[in-house]
Amino acid sequence: MPTLLALETSCDESAAAVVRDQRVLASAVASQVEEHARWGGVVPEIASRRHVEALPALIEQVMQQSGVAFAELDAIAATAAPGLVGALLVGSVTGRSLARLYGKPFLGVHHLEGHLCSVQLGEPLPPGPYLVLLVSGGHTEMIRVDGPGCYQRLARSRDDAAGEAFDKVARLLGLGYPGGPAIQAAAEHGDPTRFVLPKGRVSQPGGGFHPYDFSFSGLKTAVLRLVNQLKADEAAGGEPFPIADVAASFEQVVADVLVERTTRCVRDQGLSTLVMVGGVAANRRLRQRLEQRCSALGIQWRLAPLAYCTDNAAMIAVAAEQRFAAGARSAIELAVAPRLALEEAPVLYEPQAPF
Ligand code: KG4
Ligand code: ZN
Repeated sequence: MPTLLALETSCDESAAAVVRDQRVLASAVASQVEEHARWGGVVPEIASRRHVEALPALIEQVMQQSGVAFAELDAIAATAAPGLVGALLVGSVTGRSLARLYGKPFLGVHHLEGHLCSVQLGEPLPPGPYLVLLVSGGHTEMIRVDGPGCYQRLARSRDDAAGEAFDKVARLLGLGYPGGPAIQAAAEHGDPTRFVLPKGRVSQPGGGFHPYDFSFSGLKTAVLRLVNQLKADEAAGGEPFPIADVAASFEQVVADVLVERTTRCVRDQGLSTLVMVGGVAANRRLRQRLEQRCSALGIQWRLAPLAYCTDNAAMIAVAAEQRFAAGARSAIELAVAPRLALEEAPVLYEPQAPF
């Protein structure tokens, strides 16, 4: 039963966690969202500096809460790819320094593998391969998982990620950053059927549409047009701007598109389980929609626990634990790779990674 300390600093959350055998002994996240909210998005330079400030206290906190001494750790892990280069460096340098200091093995972790593993912090998964819908601020992908480290991407967004669409639409609606929670709150009492918004289909070169891939940039433009028209109506003395209905209609179409295409892929692949992870997987309407659809179609589903949908270090520890159990170790000189694809994650464990 290995015990690991893991660090996560790939974007705008600083996080540390101690995990033993897929059980979280302690997990802490320091969010920087308020700081970035002033600028309407993540400012990389600010993110790096805040990670430097926040990480030592977070590490101390999880070590104390878990009651685990550094000497008792089996390994130390940190997210090494992908993400903001400066932000990744803070966690990686800190993790590697601790590993060197305490003479522990170090594991660099792929952030998306962390998200995929977040579901293991909830109910046990049914046996067999499954399809994961990974929906975050930077990625919207369907990934077939045939076992630890065996990933095959079957679909992706051709433009904006779902979380990015939430963030951009929230800005159009004058709501705060991050957009997902703000839209969810605004949509709570809205009518999701009031406005019909486009489902963003992706044309195929040979004709027809791609069965699974997503496109969210047209949806964002459609919301912009709708907002302009409704604001003009309001200015002309008409109905006050119906922000709740717009937010609910937007949430509904995103949920419909994600769930329709992913359940189709599950069936086409002959799979029986659908998993959803990532920041957008925290969305209440999307969770409900997925549960309804899966139960109607006889598909088993597992959702990442709410606390582990958005960025955290517990999921990074689980991913590291899995790799560690398979014998993987990273070089202590391992650098960071801001753009590494998930399929390339094994290079993190080569004696000499190519970066
Ligand atoms: O996974 P995550 O924390 O970071 C990335 O790896 O990108 O995801 C952040 C994204 C943001 O775009 C945020 O707006 C979205 O997740 N998000 C949500 C909700 N909570 C966070 N989107 C919809 N509904 C939510 N409740
Ligand atoms: Zn993430």
